[in-house]
Order: sequence, then C-alpha cells, then structure tokens
Amino acid sequence: MADVRVVTAADTAALRQAVLRPHQTVDEVLAASDDAPGIAVYEGGRAVACASTRAEPMPDDPRPGDWRLRGMASDPAVRGQGYGAAALAAAVDYARDRGAQRVWCNARKPARGFYERYGFTTVGDEFGIDGIGPHYLMVRSTSGST
Ligand SMILES: CC(C)(COP(=O)(O)OP(=O)(O)OC[C@H]1O[C@@H](n2cnc3c(N)ncnc32)[C@H](O)[C@@H]1OP(=O)(O)O)[C@@H](O)C(=O)NCCC(=O)NCCS
Repeated sequence: MADVRVVTAADTAALRQAVLRPHQTVDEVLAASDDAPGIAVYEGGRAVACASTRAEPMPDDPRPGDWRLRGMASDPAVRGQGYGAAALAAAVDYARDRGAQRVWCNARKPARGFYERYGFTTVGDEFGIDGIGPHYLMVRSTSGST
C-alpha cells in the first residue's frame, strides 16, 4: 500500500523542480509555491510523487466548492507503477473531505490522458503557458471513486 502523507511545499520542492520546473532552482520553485497543503507519496524514504490542492474558483465558470489541483508529478524512475495515481487520488480525497465539489487543473498536454483516466474532462480549447507549453483546462466532480 502506498505511503501517502500530507506535507509542506518544502517537502516536494525538489521533486517539483526536477520534474516540472527544471529551468528553475529548488529555491525558486519553493519561493513561487503557494501555501496549499501538499500530498506526497513516499517510497524508500523519499517523495516519488506529489500534488497539491486548495480552494480556488475555476476560471470562466466558478462554482462553490471549486478546488484547484497543482504540482502533479512523479519521479521518472517510478513512472507507470501507480504512484502518480496515488497522489492524485489522495489530493482529490483531501479536497472532497474539505468540501470540494469539483477539482480542476491546468493540465499539460502530455498529461491529458492521465487526467482523463481518472475522470477529468477537458473544458474549452488548448492554451499555452509561457515557458511550459500547451495546456488544457480539465475538471472532474469529486463524487465517485478516485
Ligand atoms: C502524469 C504523471 C504524474 C503520471 O505519473 P505516473 O506515476 O506515471 O502515473 P501512474 O503510474 O499512477 O499511472 C496511472 C495510470 O495512468 C496512466 N497514465 C500515466 N501517465 C499517462 C499519460 N501521460 N497519458 C495517459 N495515461 C497515462 C498509466 O498508464 C496508468 O494507467 P493504467 O492504470 O490503466 O495502467 C507523470 O507522468 C509525470 O509526472 N509527468 C510529468 C509532469 C506532468 O506532466 N505533470 C502533470 C502536470 S499538469
């Protein structure tokens, strides 16, 4: 069973820097982090997958109970072993337990299929984020299994 913990942004900064923001330093990633609680999945004493979530209205169609998912990443060395899914499920559970009705994210294009696999649907057209690449706004209800 996955070792899933609620952690601080500092606990996942190195993983997020390596996977999501290699153009920045760990200190820069940490400085740019919000104060949302993080979820980390540990294996062998180190964080191998992470995500974070906090209440935030979805762009264009805000509704009560909107929560945003950010910082979704897994270590390339462990991909395909369920760690990313464990982090995502724990983040959705965390949000649902605190009143989330929907969870949304700006999904990187290559990760779209991962989110679809777990019930997210795409809203609107592809858009670009400077320095990172093409994205989709994706959303799912928190009802149903993760
Ligand atoms: C997306 C990411 C978090 C997936 O992590 P992972 O640890 O490989 O995911 P898992 O092993 O838990 O995969 C769970 C399922 O999702 C599928 N999946 C994983 N990545 C996928 C992708 N990019 N597209 C489609 N399906 C994917 C797996 O095949 C698996 O399906 P299965 O259960 O039917 O076999 C990881 O690839 C990653 O960190 N990518 C780079 C950073 C990134 O793009 N993050 C998202 C930012 S919005």
